[in-house]
Amino acid sequence: MFALREEDLERSILGCGDGTASFNAEVTAQGGKVLSVDPIYQFSADDIQQRIRRVYPGMLSQFARQADQYVWRHFRDPGHLGSVRMSAMNRFLEDYPSGLQAGRYVEASLPELPCFDGEYDLALCSHLLFLYSEHIHLQAHVEAVLELCRVAREVR
Ligand SMILES: C[S@@+](CC[C@H](N)C(=O)[O-])C[C@H]1O[C@@H](n2cnc3c(N)ncnc32)[C@H](O)[C@@H]1O
Repeated sequence: MFALREEDLERSILGCGDGTASFNAEVTAQGGKVLSVDPIYQFSADDIQQRIRRVYPGMLSQFARQADQYVWRHFRDPGHLGSVRMSAMNRFLEDYPSGLQAGRYVEASLPELPCFDGEYDLALCSHLLFLYSEHIHLQAHVEAVLELCRVAREVR
């Protein structure tokens, strides 16, 4: 979804609102450098795992209920999407304790990131901005985008 190329993965990357995604784990395993920030990183792996167990069934039925709003090209069907998301969350959970220790997962929230101006080559933010407009108002979007542009030379 970010049209990432192999050379992008060699850049210093900020993953903003990475949550339980496996991006940091996967890029780190390839030798890349990613900092993930998200408010949920204040919680332990156990807390996050319990929360995943609680919300996963609801997430699956939501995919099924809204199946006509998805383009089923990359994923075959709601079950396939659910199992890919669950594998990503498991990959994240395996990586999270060592990533926390290494400082690759940091608790932070837009619109204030604990980063220097231009510290990152590339900032990525998926499934957060432009998706929850009923909760995140226009001004918060503007502030978030300006903050991402402050800390990274390119934002996707
Ligand atoms: C739908 S999840 C997407 C997770 C991940 N980016 C992905 O695509 O799988 C949205 C994430 O945004 C995080 N989030 C919510 N408010 C945020 C904020 N103000 N700044 C940064 N992250 C935030 C949530 O904790 C959650 O992990």
